[in-house]
Amino acid sequence: MAKQKSVYSCTSCGAQASKWAGQCGDCGAWNTLQEAVAQAVSDHPRFSGYSGDVTTIRAEPLINLEEEPETRVSTGVGELDRVLGGGLVPGSVTLIGGDPGIGKSTLLTQTLAALSQRLPTLYVSGEESRRQVGLRARRLNLPVDKLKLLTETGVERMIKVAQQEMPRVMAVDSIQTVYTGILQSAPGSVAQVRESAAQLVRFAKQTNTAMFLIGHVTKDGTLAGPRVLEHMVDTVLYFEGDPGSRYRIIRAIKNRFGAVNELGVFAMTDKGLREVTNPSAIFLSRHEKPVPGSIIMVTREGSRPMLVEVQALVDESHLNNPRRVTLGHEQNRLAMLLAVLHRHAGVAMYDHDVFVNVVGGVRVSETAADLPVLLAILSSYRDRALPEDMVAFGEVGLAGEIRPVPNGEERLNEAAKHGFKRAIVPRGNSPAKGRIGDMKVIAVQRLDEAIEQVW
Ligand code: TYD
Ligand code: MG
Repeated sequence: MAKQKSVYSCTSCGAQASKWAGQCGDCGAWNTLQEAVAQAVSDHPRFSGYSGDVTTIRAEPLINLEEEPETRVSTGVGELDRVLGGGLVPGSVTLIGGDPGIGKSTLLTQTLAALSQRLPTLYVSGEESRRQVGLRARRLNLPVDKLKLLTETGVERMIKVAQQEMPRVMAVDSIQTVYTGILQSAPGSVAQVRESAAQLVRFAKQTNTAMFLIGHVTKDGTLAGPRVLEHMVDTVLYFEGDPGSRYRIIRAIKNRFGAVNELGVFAMTDKGLREVTNPSAIFLSRHEKPVPGSIIMVTREGSRPMLVEVQALVDESHLNNPRRVTLGHEQNRLAMLLAVLHRHAGVAMYDHDVFVNVVGGVRVSETAADLPVLLAILSSYRDRALPEDMVAFGEVGLAGEIRPVPNGEERLNEAAKHGFKRAIVPRGNSPAKGRIGDMKVIAVQRLDEAIEQVW
C-alpha cells in the first residue's frame, strides 16, 4: 500500500495546503492549519459508489425501514445504564470525558469486568501497564478471568487485535494516547485524536461492537481531545464533581439513544465507584446556624429532584468592572439576574463584586435556579441569613415576574420529605392547599413580592 499522504487543512475556512504554515494563505487566520489525511475524491466514502449505476440508488420512505427491535445490553451498573438511556446499544460509540484522576478508568474497569461475565470484552490501555490495570482490578475484587486486556497505542494494531478477538464491548483508555501511523503529528494532537477516533468509530459500526472511548478534559475544556470528538460519537458522557468530595456525577451531554442531561451519581470508595441510587440530598450541607448568603434550592437534574445549596458572596468592589464570578452556574445568567434585581427590586450592585457557588461541584443549568440565586445574593448583600428550613426554586423573567418551572409538585415533595418547613415557589407551581404535609408553600408572582415574603 502506498503511504497515505497528509495535507494541512485550515480549521477556520477549510482551505488545504501541502505544507504547514503559521498563517492560512486563504483566509489569513493564524495557527489554524491542522494535519489531516489526504483522500482522493474517488475513495472518499461520500463519493465512492457513485461511479456505478446511479439509477440503483434510491431514497425510500422512512416507514419502509425494517423494524429492528432495540437490543440494549445492561452494563450491570444501574446509574451508568440510566445515563446511557437504558443500557448499551451494540455498535454505539460512547465518549467518557473528565478531569484526570476523577475515576474514568475505575468506572470502565468495573463495567467491563462485570460485562465480561456475559459477553466477550476487550480493554485497551494506552496509559497503564498490564500490571497497573491488574492490580487495580484485584484491589477492587473484580471478576477478571474473562476480561481481555491489551496494552497498545497504535490504532491499526489495536483494530487488528480486535478483529481477532471479536469483542462485543470494547474500551480504549485513553484516546489521547492513541496514534495512527498515517499521520506524522504527535499522539494527543487534534489531528491524531480525530483520525484515530474515526478509525475506531468505523470499526465499531462495521462490527456492531459497543465502544467506549476515554478522554481527558481540562477544566476549561479547551485541551485538544474530547471536544473535537463530540460530533463523531453517539453518546458523550462527562464526569463532574469536586475532586475534594467523594461524589462523582456523570452527565449525558449528547445521546443519540436517550435523553440528555440525565445524571448518574457515584461515590468513590476504597472499593471503587459505588452507585448512589437516591442522590437527592447528597449535596445538602447543613450549617450549625443560619449563615447569610446561603439557600437550598430544589433542582431537577435528569429525571430526579435534588436539593443543592447555593451560596453567594457580595462584597464591596474597588474595580472599575466589578467581578461577576460563578461556579456551577452560568455567568451571563447572573449578569441578567442582577439587572432584573436592579430594575424590579431597586437593589443596585454596580459597586459590588458578586460571587455565586453551587456547593459540591454540581453544575446547575436550569432556570429554576434563578430565584434561589437572587435570594442568596440579597441575603449576603444585606448580611441577613435566610431561614434554615426554607427552600426555593423558580425562574425569574426580565419583567421581574416569577415563572413556573416543570415538575413543581415533585420538587416540593422531595423538600418536604427532607424536613423543610417553608418553600418559596412560583404561583404556577403552588399546590391548591398551599402546603405539602407540614411544609408551608409560599407562592409568589413577582420578585419584589418574593423578597417581601422572606424578610
Ligand atoms: P482513575 O479511574 O484512575 O482516574 P482517571 O482514569 O479518570 O484518570 O481514578 C483515580 C482516582 O480514584 C485516584 O485518585 C484514586 C481514586 N480511587 C479510589 O479512591 N478508590 C479506588 O478503589 C480506586 C480504584 C481509585
Ligand atoms: Mg485513567
